[in-house]
Amino acid sequence: MKTPTLEVYLTPAESVDALRAEAREGLTATPKWLSPKWFYDARGSELFEEITALPEYYPTRTERGLLTQYADEIAALTEPEILIELGSGSSEKTRLLLDAMTARGTLRTYVPQDVSVTALEGAAQQVGAEFPGIDVLGVVSDFTGSLHHLPGGGRRAVAFLGGTLGNLVPAERAEFLSGIAAVLAPGENLILGVGLVIDPAVLVPAYDDAAGVTAQFNLNVLAVLNKQLGANFPLEDFRHVALWDAENQWIEMRLEALRELSVHIDDLDLEITFAAGEQLRTEISAKFTEDGIAAELASAGFGVRKVWTDQDQRFALLCAQRA
Ligand code: SAH
Ligand code: TRP
Repeated sequence: MKTPTLEVYLTPAESVDALRAEAREGLTATPKWLSPKWFYDARGSELFEEITALPEYYPTRTERGLLTQYADEIAALTEPEILIELGSGSSEKTRLLLDAMTARGTLRTYVPQDVSVTALEGAAQQVGAEFPGIDVLGVVSDFTGSLHHLPGGGRRAVAFLGGTLGNLVPAERAEFLSGIAAVLAPGENLILGVGLVIDPAVLVPAYDDAAGVTAQFNLNVLAVLNKQLGANFPLEDFRHVALWDAENQWIEMRLEALRELSVHIDDLDLEITFAAGEQLRTEISAKFTEDGIAAELASAGFGVRKVWTDQDQRFALLCAQRA
């Protein structure tokens, strides 16, 4: 087996610098906010994997079902020599694409990309062992930055699965999709998985499960601040909140202070106060309509070639081509 290579475009020191800057901005704003990429330290990535197996969390198994059914068709439409996957996490579902693409004999290289070094190392090792015929090149970077470091040298497809696109607000999404279009050549493809707008009675429990794993995942961001920035957030004094914002068509995740409290962030020499009941916004998970996502892709320079959905219309896989 070839040993997977890891390229680092975001060092731990750069990541802490970025967290420092964002914590100063987001925690002194009204309302307070933090962006979702900070969830994914080693513990956060583990908790996310637990979320994907929860009975309430339908996205992972629905997308896996779609990939099981349509991976061959996706491979035939896209025929990549290089598969780049953004926010690849455990690369678990991606194996279905790798199976189909290696079976066609076109694929030479798989490039998983993620902010989480621990998730990436584990995934790259495993995929390398399971697919000895291809090169695995892990890339540690922030996909909200420039994507120009992603490799070329053959026909590419970019996969972006798990509904992670919905974790970006509309303006970030537009910039992100244009950024992908900017690195792809005309004719290259994007394979995108997004959650669809469905009944909130199904949607909300997926982000607020009975076993409390999502709550732990959300609260973990406070543990990240405690560890990385020397803060003293009392985790037991916050509770996880998930609500459906019908106007914006997104789930919003928040952490609510259960009492009035103040937190000191040593590295920033900053004191933050929370009123009782005050909420910190940590994440959105936007859901899409087929027309809505097609329009966003079109503005970024992609034409939708094919859309696959499950029978309950909960999740969509799209293949879009750079115009
Ligand atoms: N694709 C996987 C994981 C989805 S969870 C799946 O479908 O199950 C979101 C993933 O995106 C996590 O692995 C997280 O570490 C990564 N991520 C979140 N924000 C990121 C960013 N700004 N840049 C790169 N990766 C990011
Ligand atoms: N991409 C996942 C999603 O939007 C991320 C996610 C799942 C998530 N559950 C979460 C993020 C809970 C924060 C909190 O479905």
